[in-house]
Amino acid sequence: MGFSADWLALREPADRAARDDHLLRQAASLAGDNPVILDLGCGTGATARALSGSLPDTAQWRLLDNDPILLDKANAEVGTSAETCLMNLADVEALPLDGVTLVTASALLDLVSEAWLSAFAKRLNVPFYAALSYDGLMRWTPANQTDEAITTAFNRHQRTDKGFGPALGPDAALRAVEILRDAGCDVQTANSPWKLGPDMAKLQSELVDGISQAACEAGARNTETWSRSRREGAQKSRCVIGHVDILATPGIKF
Ligand SMILES: C[S@@+](CC[C@H](N)C(=O)[O-])C[C@H]1O[C@@H](n2cnc3c(N)ncnc32)[C@H](O)[C@@H]1O
Repeated sequence: MGFSADWLALREPADRAARDDHLLRQAASLAGDNPVILDLGCGTGATARALSGSLPDTAQWRLLDNDPILLDKANAEVGTSAETCLMNLADVEALPLDGVTLVTASALLDLVSEAWLSAFAKRLNVPFYAALSYDGLMRWTPANQTDEAITTAFNRHQRTDKGFGPALGPDAALRAVEILRDAGCDVQTANSPWKLGPDMAKLQSELVDGISQAACEAGARNTETWSRSRREGAQKSRCVIGHVDILATPGIKF
């Protein structure tokens, strides 16, 4: 799955429903009375939209992405309260953290490497809200005998380099908790699975295409047959895709 604006728009309602409300509200409150929020890998601004109802009108967004098309869309949607940073966030030392009261990310940590996360944790001196890291779980109902092999291959693909060195993939949330705690943060987590029913058949179908392509690249067999049967059954099937939300706070005990 790439990061086209269409794909991000298709997944946004599922992301929104999946986010843990308690951590989201706590993150907004930790941003303070005059929030300045750096959103890493902002895409079209989904995190700003998700947090908007919980933040004061004075909130300022610093939207960061390396895709100029997504960044333009995010800028247009978030409006005058936003500034944009077109940059590669792999360069941790260059991240514009000055004056920031909260750092956010969503659907990002599974792309980064252990080395990136460790370097980022060292620089972090404000709360960090990272939503929707994929945790390796995929479960379909009705089940299919190829599901497990596809999931295993997909998870193997998730661990390949996504621009930051070997990606943490399904281990991202667990390792992030350990690394952030080692760096002196208090860390809370909550499960935030996608629960996709027949009403989200289009998202299920697109998801299946992306999973199948990645699983094929990672050596799985019968991916075409699997994806065809899953697409054909999307109007009647349900699937759960595991995610984890994290809220890390340097030096504050909950
Ligand atoms: C899965 S999308 C999530 C987008 C958005 N946070 C959301 O939840 O809809 C990952 C985002 O990270 C951005 N990204 C990936 N690698 C990046 C890098 N090295 N530097 C900056 N942005 C990057 C992509 O362009 C994309 O917008």
